[in-house]
Amino acid sequence: MGSSTIEVEPLASSLGAFIHGVDLSKALSEEQFQDVHDALVDNSVVFFRDQDLTPERQLEFARGFGTPEVHPIVAGSNDHPELIEVLKPAGEGASFGTGWHTDNTFFEKPSMITMLYGIETPPVGGDTMWASMEKAYDHLSDGMKELLDGLVAVHSAKVAFDPRTTAEKYEGKHSLKYTYSDAVTQEVEHPLIRTHDVSGRKSIFVNPMFTIRIKGMTEKESAPILQYLYEFSTQPEFACRFRWEDKSVAMWDNRCTQHYAMNDYVQYRRLMRRVTIGGDKRPV
Ligand code: SIN
Repeated sequence: MGSSTIEVEPLASSLGAFIHGVDLSKALSEEQFQDVHDALVDNSVVFFRDQDLTPERQLEFARGFGTPEVHPIVAGSNDHPELIEVLKPAGEGASFGTGWHTDNTFFEKPSMITMLYGIETPPVGGDTMWASMEKAYDHLSDGMKELLDGLVAVHSAKVAFDPRTTAEKYEGKHSLKYTYSDAVTQEVEHPLIRTHDVSGRKSIFVNPMFTIRIKGMTEKESAPILQYLYEFSTQPEFACRFRWEDKSVAMWDNRCTQHYAMNDYVQYRRLMRRVTIGGDKRPV
């Protein structure tokens, strides 16, 4: 994408781009903010290197895109409840966000954007991958598009945050603090094919972490269709992979992507600061 105030360097052909020439520690001009916004919509995930971001400045920048959310299950920081410090100490096996997913699709209004800042990143490992649900939709056959268009998927955190299988999360054995609430068990409905409110492009909007069935079908009946979509949409051709460095920022568009945090750095500490920005309920 051509732009006067930033340089956009694609990382992979399906999605992902580095943005150069922006200092996020300072307020951006209206024009530069718009260029960053447009690059995010065009590339679905954007990366910045060497950014000095205080918690306050991270929140301020995030607010330009919408309203930062307070997570109903995972505790935020004491000073800024909207900011989650995603810490994995050296030696701890559990890693937050491992498994393909789109953030918070179990919300009535799924998160629109996530912004993650690398504070202490491992020398190797701990990369994050993203996959384009728009590219995946575009590559479905016409017959499959017709079958899926108009279907509604049911989403819930009840498997991912099930206290019976993830008890240690609620028992304070992880570095992140989890609180059980109705948000864990509630079920919400979203169109299985979702249209992006800015770009107008269509995406496959299901993910293996939070989608539990297709509306009007049993879980068993839904499973083969969903499983097919999970495998199809996260194939390497639709994906990119980002190697973190300290002071890197990734911002991704949850309206049209899934992502996967690699759990391959047990011996290293990793500390990230995350904020999600609230989205819309799309028409069903
Ligand atoms: C997440 O799923 O939000 C975490 C991603 C990461 O830590 O790389």
